[in-house]
Amino acid sequence: MAKRTLGELYGDHLKAVCALADKALAAGGYDGLITCSGRQVYYYLDDSTYPFRPNPRYRYWLPDATPDCFVVYRPGRRPMLVFNQPDDYWFLPPEAPEGYWVAHFDVKVVRSPAELGKLAGKARWAVLGEPAPATEGLGDHDPPAVTGPLDYARAVKSPYEVECMALATAAGVRAHRAAEAAFRSGASEYEVHLAYCRAAGAREEELPYNNIIAFDRHAAVLHYQVLDRARPAGVRSFLIDAGAQHAGYACDITRTYAAEDGEFLDLIRSVDSVQQKLADRVRPGVDYRDIHLEAHRSLAGVLVRHGIVRGSAEAAVESGVTSVFFPHGIGHLLGLMVHDAAGFAAGPDGGTRAKPAGHPYLRLTRDLEPGFAVTIEPGIYFIDSLLEAARADARGRAIDWKRVEALRPHGGIRIEDNVVAQDG
Ligand code: GLY
Ligand code: MN
Ligand code: MN
Repeated sequence: MAKRTLGELYGDHLKAVCALADKALAAGGYDGLITCSGRQVYYYLDDSTYPFRPNPRYRYWLPDATPDCFVVYRPGRRPMLVFNQPDDYWFLPPEAPEGYWVAHFDVKVVRSPAELGKLAGKARWAVLGEPAPATEGLGDHDPPAVTGPLDYARAVKSPYEVECMALATAAGVRAHRAAEAAFRSGASEYEVHLAYCRAAGAREEELPYNNIIAFDRHAAVLHYQVLDRARPAGVRSFLIDAGAQHAGYACDITRTYAAEDGEFLDLIRSVDSVQQKLADRVRPGVDYRDIHLEAHRSLAGVLVRHGIVRGSAEAAVESGVTSVFFPHGIGHLLGLMVHDAAGFAAGPDGGTRAKPAGHPYLRLTRDLEPGFAVTIEPGIYFIDSLLEAARADARGRAIDWKRVEALRPHGGIRIEDNVVAQDG
């Protein structure tokens, strides 16, 4: 069978979103839904704006990323797109919408978002988006009866969404390869960042999150944000956590490299093999919390095998020693947000699924379903503050401090891929 085009897949995606909205609106007692793209926000005391990031709930409906636009939907009718195209000569007004998705909408081009009220008319509206003058008095903002089921459903990606994420991944992979080449040819963190953006074809603000480009000890800072302009002499290691987007859908990829052969490269290979094994556990019906706990057991094995931790792997998990070296969750939902919505939801109508005791940073506690897109990102880090805290208590006795000192200058390792749960 011929591969279906993105446009064909999108038609089915939109139908499914409408069906979800129909159900949520009926349950919440609303006549219709207005979903706002969001507004440009100005820096304090300044007349320039923060980079614009559309409301992810708007992007669920369409790939557009224009501020002050609205999807107006009433069950049984074609969705209306109120598209703001101001008459402006300070900023270039957006082009009228174009592309595979436009024919699915009744498009109304307006010169001001204030025209929304007249076009939408009076009804019991649920309004998704930050309060703004254009939506004032139109209806209830972000009612949980509507946001709950829509956010919950977003964990399951439609074939359209999976294809968008695959396109984002292709750009991310291309850029990761360029970044590695830049690192190997002597670039600084900042220069690696530029090589990444160029290869991804993205301005910084078009990336799904700030690039983490960390040499040596910087890799021990989980969300390291500084891009050093100078490359230090004798760089040992390089961790890059960087993504790309397509139509608002993100990829979130991490790789770690050693400058030379040796113990650190061996440790990278061990984490990589754990990562591959855990990625294979992403199947429908699996409780994601179990993958996180398995990551601790597997990483404990790596720590013991590499002589970093003494005693048994079981004891290292039991005593919390693994959390010294792996202090974050094994991953999260991924989609229109990098850490996507409703990771802890017990169901579409609310409730929370608890994190396992002692694991406060896990971001996903749901059972995987077909179409769930998640990351799998185990790591081993040498973080001074966590190591010193462990040295001061009983955990310190299980750690081989000589081995830690040898590896500490490399900062840490994380390896991250994106996986869609599928039967079979
Ligand atoms: N890039 C952020 C994360 O991996 O969660
Ligand atoms: Mn991630
Ligand atoms: Mn990441």
